[in-house]
Amino acid sequence: MNTEKLALSIASILLVIFFSLILYGAYVKNIDLPTCIVNVKPFEKDTIIKISENKYEIHYIARQFSFFPTEVKIPRGSIVDIYLTSPDVIHGFHIEGTNVNLMVIPGAITYYRVKFNNPGEYRIYCHEYCGLGHQNMMGKILVQ
Ligand code: CUA
Repeated sequence: MNTEKLALSIASILLVIFFSLILYGAYVKNIDLPTCIVNVKPFEKDTIIKISENKYEIHYIARQFSFFPTEVKIPRGSIVDIYLTSPDVIHGFHIEGTNVNLMVIPGAITYYRVKFNNPGEYRIYCHEYCGLGHQNMMGKILVQ
C-alpha cells in the first residue's frame, strides 16, 4: 500500500471514530450541546409578563433589524424590568427621553429597571451599527 492510500485510510477511520463518539455522547450519555439563548425560556419569543398592577417584565429580542416586541403598551407609573438579548450581532438599546442606554450582546442578557412616570410615546433606537438596516432598527413603548 502506498503512503497516500495509507493516509486516506487512517483519516477515514478517524472520521468514523469521531462521529461515533459524538453520537455516543449525544444518545448514550445524554450530553446536551450548548444552545442558542433564544432557544431558552423566556427568550423563545418576545414576552411581556404582567407581574402585578403597574409592574411588568419585558423580554426583548434584538435581531437585525428590529426589536421584538416592536410595540408595548403599559399604564403610566409602571415599573418595567427590561431583559434583552440578541441571537445575531451586538445592538444598542436607547429609550428616548429616559436614561436607558444599553448594549445588547449575543449570548448574554442585559437587564435594566425603569419607571415610566409620564404618559407618551417612547421611541427605542439601536445605537450600535449592526448592519445595512441599522438606521431602521426601532421600537416603541406607549405609556398611557
Ligand atoms: Cu441593531 Cu444597529
